[in-house]
Amino acid sequence: IAHEIKNPLTPIQLSAQRLRRKYLGSFSGDDLVFDDCTNLIVKQVDELKNLVNEFSNFARMPASNPTPNQLNDVISEALRLYQEGHKEITFVFDPDSSMPVFNLDRDQIKRAVINLLDNAVSAVSNDGEIKISSSYNQTLKMAVFSVSDNGSGIPPEDKPRLFEPYFSTKKSGTGLGLAIVSTIISDHNGYIRVKDNVPKGTAFIIELPVSQDKLNT
Ligand SMILES: Nc1ncnc2c1ncn2[C@@H]1O[C@H](COP(=O)(O)OP(=O)(O)OP(=O)(O)O)[C@@H](O)[C@H]1O
Ligand SMILES: [Mg+2]
Repeated sequence: IAHEIKNPLTPIQLSAQRLRRKYLGSFSGDDLVFDDCTNLIVKQVDELKNLVNEFSNFARMPASNPTPNQLNDVISEALRLYQEGHKEITFVFDPDSSMPVFNLDRDQIKRAVINLLDNAVSAVSNDGEIKISSSYNQTLKMAVFSVSDNGSGIPPEDKPRLFEPYFSTKKSGTGLGLAIVSTIISDHNGYIRVKDNVPKGTAFIIELPVSQDKLNT
């Protein structure tokens, strides 16, 4: 279906661009209607294309390919991307040094952390603080990490819908961020839940099983 939507978009865009090339010069300086409208068509078609791409990427998310990795390293990598781009926000990482190496899909877990950070960044204001901590539960053989922020928080009525694809309260959100996170975590046989952060904001808690046989590979 993504193809069926995308196919007509290119000719629409090319036609608008052709009109611009051919006729833009024929309008007098103060007549901006042609310029504005054709420009808008080209830009909006671009946005549609991006949207369709995101939807189709979600629909065929690659199967996870777990390999032995250090979760703390994967988290640090994702965090570094955000730290550099958002100097106004305080990022804190509190890794558990006893975290074992276990099988996980590095790219996908990184994607999950990025999606959570992306939401946290848009939820906090200037005095924002975003914290990730990891811990290893030896008894349960579970790796746990949480991403918490001191941002706007999530109203109780929104909570049940957070992980649904296309649920978004943002002007230009796809609502796929958390749906992707939740797919990735369940592909790893893990769990994700949300709770209110104290005194303010939101915390997402992710638990990943570190099974014995996986540890030995
Ligand atoms: N840390 C958070 N603080 C406050 N609200 C949040 C947080 N994380 C998620 N949400 C709420 O959950 C909704 C769904 O999040 P999700 O990441 O799935 O989509 P999105 O962020 O709206 O869109 P996209 O991820 O495509 O930018 C958000 O629109 C927002 O209302
Ligand atoms: Mg998001």
